[in-house]
Amino acid sequence: MLNVDISNIWGELSLPDLLQMEEEVAKAHKTLAEGRGEGNDFLGWLELPTFEQTEEIARIRKAAKRIREHSDAFVVVGIGGSYLGPRAAIELLKGQNHNLNDQDPQVFFAGNNLSTAAWNDLCHQLEGKDFSINIISKSGTTTEPAIATRALRWMLERKYGAEKARERIFVTTDPEKGALRQMATEEGYETFVIPPNVGGRYSVLTAVGLLPMAVAGIDPMEVMMGAAQARLDFDARNFDNPAWLYAAARNLMYRKGKKIEMLCCYEPDFKCFGGWWQQLFGESEGKNGKGIFPVTTEFTADLHSLGQMIQQGERSLFETVVRFAPPKKKVAIEPDWKNLDGLNYLEGKTLDFVQDQACAGTLNAHVDGGVPVMMLQTGEINARTLGELFYFFELSCGISAYLLGVNPFNQPGVEFYKRNMFHLLGKPGY
Ligand code: PA5
Repeated sequence: MLNVDISNIWGELSLPDLLQMEEEVAKAHKTLAEGRGEGNDFLGWLELPTFEQTEEIARIRKAAKRIREHSDAFVVVGIGGSYLGPRAAIELLKGQNHNLNDQDPQVFFAGNNLSTAAWNDLCHQLEGKDFSINIISKSGTTTEPAIATRALRWMLERKYGAEKARERIFVTTDPEKGALRQMATEEGYETFVIPPNVGGRYSVLTAVGLLPMAVAGIDPMEVMMGAAQARLDFDARNFDNPAWLYAAARNLMYRKGKKIEMLCCYEPDFKCFGGWWQQLFGESEGKNGKGIFPVTTEFTADLHSLGQMIQQGERSLFETVVRFAPPKKKVAIEPDWKNLDGLNYLEGKTLDFVQDQACAGTLNAHVDGGVPVMMLQTGEINARTLGELFYFFELSCGISAYLLGVNPFNQPGVEFYKRNMFHLLGKPGY
């Protein structure tokens, strides 16, 4: 089970501060678990993790097998939770360079921007390749994926003809409502479900995340097993529960003026997971004039760009550092008899050792500089750890948002930019 180490926040908070939160956290967890809070019609994600293969997961595995057989490339069309969840999973487990790996189909993402350059590049990448698409949208009406969908459907129909194209289009959406559901029914596309009580940013453990993962060669049941174990582990109603510690500590820090949380990781492949976390917490908590601003950084790279700001800038930051257990395959620094680079003092040391020292040195420097640091230590990067992390953050976010006094499951603010854009585009009714 992952562990949250709060021993480096005591400069900012005291143990009595934390203990005083116990009742509040217990209440927030109960409110969430018993569906007594605002947004309680969006709690389906709490129950998604399962140790048993469901019918939906069996269909996901079957579809993924077919896609892997007939496609060199797979385009995942979606934005927000429909984009960040699958991409986070694939990049963390398969690496940011997963598309250079010959064993699995290439996975591209579309419908997450309005960039002509990105679209032209995707078309170039797909040239001469057999491909399939997965259109993911809960509402089925989001502009960015809708535009990409129209273009990709035409590309497929031109390439394979209407009948054959149908076999290469997979839709993940609401079981009944929305333009996408209607399109899938009318056109006869295979569909997967985003349950009505699961919001976009909490949907990664539905087909939203699981189908793209399976196509990329990640066993969805392994991810689910990790999440299912997490569901049991993080149900504890005391401070032995890491989700309690995390939710309580971040809220206490916020109350003491630490308005920005920086999620840091020493693994470059974690970058997109950071984006998923950012959406989860940002969209769940940023409302009613409140909310911890979530930012993500990649260490050590960003220590060479943001390090100065972290060390001596405005003291409104706290850090959450995610640390994975090191991989079994070690890399050692080689000897060089000339030692022109002066690195012989590291000869024989592993890269993990160097990373550990960088991490310890950074931790001390940041804590000394007035930045409290929470450490989230977890297992080696694998599908189970990933499932655990997804569920851990979702649960912590639900508890944390109720502690903050906001509804974690709506996003009324997102509508403002959309309305303006629709008006400017001349959409009927705007
Ligand atoms: O969390 C949410 O619900 C949103 O951020 C959505 O993920 C995003 O807006 C995409 O919506 P949809 O899946 O309806 O296309």
